[in-house]
Amino acid sequence: MTAPLPISLHVNGERIDAQVLPRLNLADFLREQLKLTGTHVGCEHGVCGACTVRVNGEIVRSCLMLAVQTHGASVETIEGLFSALEHIRDRKPIIIRSEKDGVRQVLWAPEDDR
Ligand code: FES
Repeated sequence: MTAPLPISLHVNGERIDAQVLPRLNLADFLREQLKLTGTHVGCEHGVCGACTVRVNGEIVRSCLMLAVQTHGASVETIEGLFSALEHIRDRKPIIIRSEKDGVRQVLWAPEDDR
């Protein structure tokens, strides 16, 4: 059995020090160890995009990246995005779902449109 490895990274601006198994993917690390369940796991093949996060500003599929690869990196999840956009929390979400591919888009209506 392989021993856990230490990693240090920033997730949504917070420094995280953790021990992870070398085979643990980033999506499972975020969901299971950090309880950031806004990152979802769908296909686990890099196709659906449910696990999308940003690592050092680059869009990545976290199901295809190992947690140990983020040592020293800055990771942003949907929770961090919502925190950064706190000023729109009071606005009414308008969710549009494409019938063709199921992709969702969220628009935020100005308070005047409620
Ligand atoms: S779970 Fe589908 S792209 Fe990662």
